[in-house]
Amino acid sequence: MNNPAKEEARKRIESLTETINHHNRLYYQEDEPEISDFDFDRLLEELVKLENAFPEFKKEDSPTQRIGGTITKTFETATHSVKMLSLGNTYSKEELIAFDERVAKGLGHRNYDYFCELKFDGVAISLVYEKGRLIRAVTRGDGYKGDVVTENVRTIRNIPLTIKDSNLPEYFEVRGEVFLPRREFDKINKERKERNEALLANPRNAASGTLKMQDSGVVAKRRLNCNFYQLIGDDLPINHHHEAVTMMEKWGLNISTAYKKVKDIHATLDYIEYWREKRHQLPVDTDGVVIKVNNYYHQEELGFTAKIPRWAIAFKYQAEKAKTKLQSITYQVGRTGAITPVANLSPVSLAGTTVKRASLHNANEIERLDLHEGDMVWVEKGGEIIPKITAVIKELRNGAEKPISFLKNCPECGTKLERNKGEAKHFCPNAESCPPQVLGRMEHFVSKRAMDIDSLGTERLRALIHQGYIRNPADIYDLPQFKDELMGLEISDEQYVKSSLGYLFVSLKKALYAITESITLKEIEQFLADHESMESIPKIQYFRDLIPKFNKRVEENTASVEKFLKELTFFEFDQIEDYVPVAVVIAVMGDLEKDDIENIKSASIHKSTVHDLITNGKLEFSDTLLGKIKKLKGNTFQEGVIFNMMEGIRNSISQPFPRVLFALGIRNIGENTAVLLAEHFKNMNALQTAADESLLEINGIGNTAVNSIKAYFSKKENLDTLNRLKNHGLNFELDKSDIQWISKKLEGKKILASGKLNHFNRDEIIEFIASHGGIYSKTVSKSLDFIIEGEEMGPSKKEKALKLGIQLISEEEFLQSFTNINNEKNR
Ligand code: IVH
Repeated sequence: MNNPAKEEARKRIESLTETINHHNRLYYQEDEPEISDFDFDRLLEELVKLENAFPEFKKEDSPTQRIGGTITKTFETATHSVKMLSLGNTYSKEELIAFDERVAKGLGHRNYDYFCELKFDGVAISLVYEKGRLIRAVTRGDGYKGDVVTENVRTIRNIPLTIKDSNLPEYFEVRGEVFLPRREFDKINKERKERNEALLANPRNAASGTLKMQDSGVVAKRRLNCNFYQLIGDDLPINHHHEAVTMMEKWGLNISTAYKKVKDIHATLDYIEYWREKRHQLPVDTDGVVIKVNNYYHQEELGFTAKIPRWAIAFKYQAEKAKTKLQSITYQVGRTGAITPVANLSPVSLAGTTVKRASLHNANEIERLDLHEGDMVWVEKGGEIIPKITAVIKELRNGAEKPISFLKNCPECGTKLERNKGEAKHFCPNAESCPPQVLGRMEHFVSKRAMDIDSLGTERLRALIHQGYIRNPADIYDLPQFKDELMGLEISDEQYVKSSLGYLFVSLKKALYAITESITLKEIEQFLADHESMESIPKIQYFRDLIPKFNKRVEENTASVEKFLKELTFFEFDQIEDYVPVAVVIAVMGDLEKDDIENIKSASIHKSTVHDLITNGKLEFSDTLLGKIKKLKGNTFQEGVIFNMMEGIRNSISQPFPRVLFALGIRNIGENTAVLLAEHFKNMNALQTAADESLLEINGIGNTAVNSIKAYFSKKENLDTLNRLKNHGLNFELDKSDIQWISKKLEGKKILASGKLNHFNRDEIIEFIASHGGIYSKTVSKSLDFIIEGEEMGPSKKEKALKLGIQLISEEEFLQSFTNINNEKNR
């Protein structure tokens, strides 16, 4: 090669490939990443660029082949060469011994051994390799045939795209379990939480959802992983499962190292015990052990029942439970006002984590369990993240337990709670000004598809609501007036909770930091993390004992923590692990007298932050104390943040009318309906004054929507808000360019969809049709062009359609014709 630039590129491509493969190995095999995702992506990006510039150096199995980007609208199905079976389950030692007896009887001797593996809780997958190349990946489906998800599976970085080995079988299949490592799952949920999206229930569902995503580029970002456990092929040179495992390992397929070949069922039981607790340290969720007869001839002899092999069985670990004490019940107020009781528990170790809270759903649940404060209870963790209380251990009651009467007033705003007939949940009726409910509406108002003010995220909104700056959407546009006041405003973060009576509690971390001097937040965090499973009071006592070790202002700090402990036991509060009453913390900081403490205590009811307590609590604090209290605050608004918020607010003023209409959050008026209304009425005034009949004329608008519109415009507060929004310059009129069609492929077509669709929910299909120029109709009438027939279409609708001779097409056909139209257009 005589072109030096080219030679350089070749070398760089080689070295990048090596580096990326090395980091992939560290990440997947060793679970010890050395570089951040960001740095990793940068390496990958550089490789993509170089490969694009010098395609001749691009290898078939380059790590860039896993970036994804393919869009699959519908997954093809493929038939499995050998049915993907399930396994019989056992839950006890006795059942396992009975299994062993059946094996011995079936073989007529005891000269066999077992191979034990963990049972990974993910999604079963089958990969087919031909001439060493991964050619197909198929989900389990119904066992006979599943979905072809090759493009998505190719993005899993430790699945070899090509395998090289002398004597590699021409054609073979490997099966395994695709999973989302817990760390990835937690990361995704953390991000979803920040974006206010619904949380994924558990890693298994997340993995299964990810595998079926349509955009492999998104799949690639999710970092799925796979453990293999089965090799299938003709004439493989092996007679034992353990050889298959070794062979797969040699080919670079990921095998969990937790396997063991054992000599008999007793050793199997030891294996089960060994992994009972240890398995929680693995990156993947496991729910049991799979025991397989090792020898293939033995397997063949034992054969199958109709559904399951006789040579293998799954031992499932019982849903683990732990005994602990119910300390108190606090209540969370949701964005719709629904109240959810939360059990505060003494910390207890369960399935590898320390549990301190459990969800209780509603008052019926408390009643059903006959829960008393102070009860010893059983908590269990099923497949879900949040543990639940399954029973009270009544034998352990000593008479000191207190019956629980469900909360009467909202802990956030003090309004009397209500419960509708036939509904399980209590709710706070103060929709107007109860902070979490206001937050729900504001989040909608600023959301991307509404006013799109992304500088007003949840935490900032919460802060502004809590400190009285925002109650309704129009208040957002008044914020610029208060720009200077916002400096130093506290962002509430997760450092606060409210007790059942509404007292403000702050995290123990902040409290210890505030009452001591010179001990850093980091040191406190470390201490708390190291002693996570201790109850609060012993933990604080232990902290006090360790103060000499920190070696900073030992005497003062010890005295402070001592006083803190005294006050905590003196005052009666709900006990909430890791949180303490703000009033007590301030009392310690200010060395206050009993009366002062009582005052702070009552002032702290329904306050949202320390800043809120200081500014609105009508309390008088010395400057020294105020200075100290600063340490207790969460993050505060600073200049940059305020600037960004103001800019976002200003920019949002130009959002088009349909978005403004959607942003108002009128019940039952989704994005698509807002577009229909805006298009039809052209301006807010016409909509406001529209008669029911003219509303009903619009396809896609029914009585429910009409009632909601009427209800909205009949409220004086809403009219005031609208007035103010208008004065702030928001668009109350349609500009012709506002409605943007994706295409005109369905122009003038009147379409109805009936039954369950696989690719759209109801709103989505309406929007899809509208965005391509079509008209969605709700009723079967002669004027329809066609009906998309989903699963379980209503029989009467179908009959009517057939009678009227309207064409029925399946969802697949609809999408197909769409792609055809698409292709024709593109040609
Ligand atoms: S062997 C014929 N080994 O469990 C036996 N399966 O209930 C084939 N699974 O569909 C399965 N970990 O999805 C086997 N180490 C393991 C497994 C495992 C998880 C899943 C697999 C299978 C299901 C059977």
